[in-house]
Amino acid sequence: MKFFIDTADINEIRKAREFGILDGVTTNPSLVSKVKRPYLEVLTEIAREIEGPVSAEVIATDSAGIVREARELAKIGGNVVIKVPLIAEGLKAVKTLSGEGIKTNVTLCFNALQALMAAKAGATYISPFVGRLDDIASEGMEVVEEIMTIYDNYGFDTEIIVASVRNPLHIKYAAMMGAHIATIPYSVFESIVKHPLTDIGLAKFLEDYKKVPK
Ligand code: E4P
Repeated sequence: MKFFIDTADINEIRKAREFGILDGVTTNPSLVSKVKRPYLEVLTEIAREIEGPVSAEVIATDSAGIVREARELAKIGGNVVIKVPLIAEGLKAVKTLSGEGIKTNVTLCFNALQALMAAKAGATYISPFVGRLDDIASEGMEVVEEIMTIYDNYGFDTEIIVASVRNPLHIKYAAMMGAHIATIPYSVFESIVKHPLTDIGLAKFLEDYKKVPK
């Protein structure tokens, strides 16, 4: 299972990388807006800093515009993956881009049939937004399970990025289902390694070590 970090903040990316288990980065316009620097400048800095895939989202919503923008974003670096919204025009663009060998991450996926369409269009990655589904009293992880079944049935290569992750349980269930990737906000990334009993146990071991004759 691969771990991506879901942020445009270079400091968070650097801190996550120190864990030694970071495989890639996903961004979106909302995340870049928090950094308060020009869009291309932020994406370029991240793509140069990280070896793994870095998802950069297009702003255009018509297929010709998406393809134009995607070709420009792809010039940033070989690791840039173009994030395309799951709309009809987006899927047309994905078909063209996959024909050109440009990798895509189809974003804003909320059901398994949308994911099937994206895979048929040649998407490299599909991003079901589990947290936003949970927010409206739907089961986000059920959608991931359905997508996995459909992709397995037909042997699609499209990798599933469990996105809109809100808590450690999303990651646990993603791993149990065998989802390829989870893209995780830094706060959750940091929290998944922690357990209070680990801290209590370690403190006791260190205290007891002092009693061992030297
Ligand atoms: C995924 O690629 C998106 O950037 C992200 O996971 C959206 O998460 P949110 O629902 O917390 O905004």
